[in-house]
Amino acid sequence: MKAMICTMALGMLLAGAIPAAADDAAALYKSKCQVCHGADGKGTGAGQKMGARDFHSPEVAKQSDAEMVKITKEGKGKMPKFEGKLTDDQIKGLITYIRGLK
Ligand code: HEC
Repeated sequence: MKAMICTMALGMLLAGAIPAAADDAAALYKSKCQVCHGADGKGTGAGQKMGARDFHSPEVAKQSDAEMVKITKEGKGKMPKFEGKLTDDQIKGLITYIRGLK
């Protein structure tokens, strides 16, 4: 019985381990960023009114990951800061996710 529980726990760990980071970023983006930045990263009406730029625009694309992380952490203009609300790893995951949005 004990062994079975162990195997199940290990199975769940392994199953969760690989796609977890991407899923995490997608879920976080949906819950924390999408209201302003939109599902496709172009920015919702409200987000654009606040000055959010399309994540696909050349101005955003040319920024380094470090700059994007910094803006997410410290906020900028109407963009709220997420320092203390998200871990560095979560923020890095989100930036990678944003860059991959189509
Ligand atoms: C309340 C609305 C709002 C939410 C929620 C929000 N943002 Fe923003 N974000 C903005 C605005 C507005 C800007 C533009 C700031 C400026 O340039 O003045 C911005 C800019 C950015 C930028 C810089 C891109 C650029 O235009 O140079 C990044 C990166 C970013 N947001 C990431 C995120 C991430 C990641 C989340 C979720 C964790 C998030 N934002 C949530 C409003 C928001």
